Amino acid sequence: MAKVLNRKTILVTGGAGFIGSNFIRHELESYDDVVIVNLDKLTYAGNLENLKDIEKKYGLASLNLKPKTQDLRPDLRYFFVKGDICDRNLADSLLSGKYFKDKEVGQGTHDARLMTPDSIVNFAAESHVDRSILDAVPFIDTNIKGTQVLLEAARIHWQDLGSGTRDMVPNVFLHISTDEVYGSLGKTGEFTETSPLLPNSPYSASKAAADLLCRSYYKAYNLPIILTRSSNNYGPYQFPEKLIPLMIKNALERKELPVYGEGLNVRDWLYVEDNCRAIDLVLRKGNIGEIYNIGGENEIENIKVVKLICKILGEKAAGDSRLDELIKFINDPRGKAHDFRYALDCSKIKKDLGWKPVSKFEEGLRETIDWYLSNRNWVKKVVTGEYQEYYKKIYT
Ligand code: NAD
Ligand code: TYD
Repeated sequence: MAKVLNRKTILVTGGAGFIGSNFIRHELESYDDVVIVNLDKLTYAGNLENLKDIEKKYGLASLNLKPKTQDLRPDLRYFFVKGDICDRNLADSLLSGKYFKDKEVGQGTHDARLMTPDSIVNFAAESHVDRSILDAVPFIDTNIKGTQVLLEAARIHWQDLGSGTRDMVPNVFLHISTDEVYGSLGKTGEFTETSPLLPNSPYSASKAAADLLCRSYYKAYNLPIILTRSSNNYGPYQFPEKLIPLMIKNALERKELPVYGEGLNVRDWLYVEDNCRAIDLVLRKGNIGEIYNIGGENEIENIKVVKLICKILGEKAAGDSRLDELIKFINDPRGKAHDFRYALDCSKIKKDLGWKPVSKFEEGLRETIDWYLSNRNWVKKVVTGEYQEYYKKIYT
């Protein structure tokens, strides 16, 4: 039982999305003493299919079943809560432990204290630039207002706990941000953590606003905040509206591969597992009040990414060496909001925490393509009618 009392309980928001679901899997598979509470609204981008294996291995089918205390095993370490990070009552209830007491979970092997999150990792966000240009409202609500609701709830529930030093602070509020807050680079240079914030899309502006709110809660209330800003992630479970999974899906269906402009924009691709390792390190060992850049050290032009996908898919599955004939250069739907290039200086996280990315782009891309080939049903399930509507708006 002593081991159970040492458990770390993390409130992961947006855990049914791409990076959040990979992070939850990483934590539960890496540690025996971690409990995860996943708060997710299940927007179009959030899908419980992403965590089916985890629910089966570590979770209750659903808390709505009102589990009886005696049924709870100590190895039960994953709890899903459907809800909105903008819902202050829900945030209070989760952070005070009331939520689980009311569900009769906070007893027996699951002491109420163990069900009360000591850390928050805030992934929940509207995350797609093109959607933010079509309609910024949900971005303002979730990314800015939702972050402030979580910050405020953490402030109220953690106010007596922090003393300012990492050893003494049992709580961490880890906010997941993005390199896009720095804006766009030309052909050379890299962003450091102190580069100015110059966001160009409603998405990146909403993320920058959230970063500044986090900073203010650290300064004004000594809330134990840490931020990560990563480059473009790729890997399993990414919703097929982002470049890499969209191109894989379309190529497999022999549909056009829509490349914005001339395809010369540059992104720095980070394998999602490398990011999860970095986030875990920052959560456990990062310095309070700090920002950490996390980059993949894989800068490549969009057109080269698309051609590489065609080549790998041609070899692996499609039996067609001319998939790149599907490439279609289209008018850039982002206009001036389309950042030309991102690149991150990651020397801080390397030096302070000993992290570095290990995945080489072509290897990671091959693994990703293998995953999409083995999970075609997943793609079918996540692509709902809403996706078709969105696709028409952007691409026709
Ligand atoms: P995603 O769109 O795949 O997932 C977002 C998740 O948040 C979904 O499960 C969704 O249901 C949930 N969500 C949305 N609004 C919510 C709300 N109001 N309350 C509760 N849950 C809500 O996003 P992702 O790609 O996994 O990104 C996760 C985080 O990482 C985001 O904060 C994003 O800004 C950041 N980020 C992403 C990338 C990337 O390349 N994907 C790069 C850098 C930073
Ligand atoms: P995306 O995956 O949406 O990530 P972000 O905009 O956050 O960097 O897009 C990556 C790059 O690919 C970006 O320069 C826009 C481009 N792109 C296309 O050319 N075609 C597409 O259909 C999509 C979705 C993106």
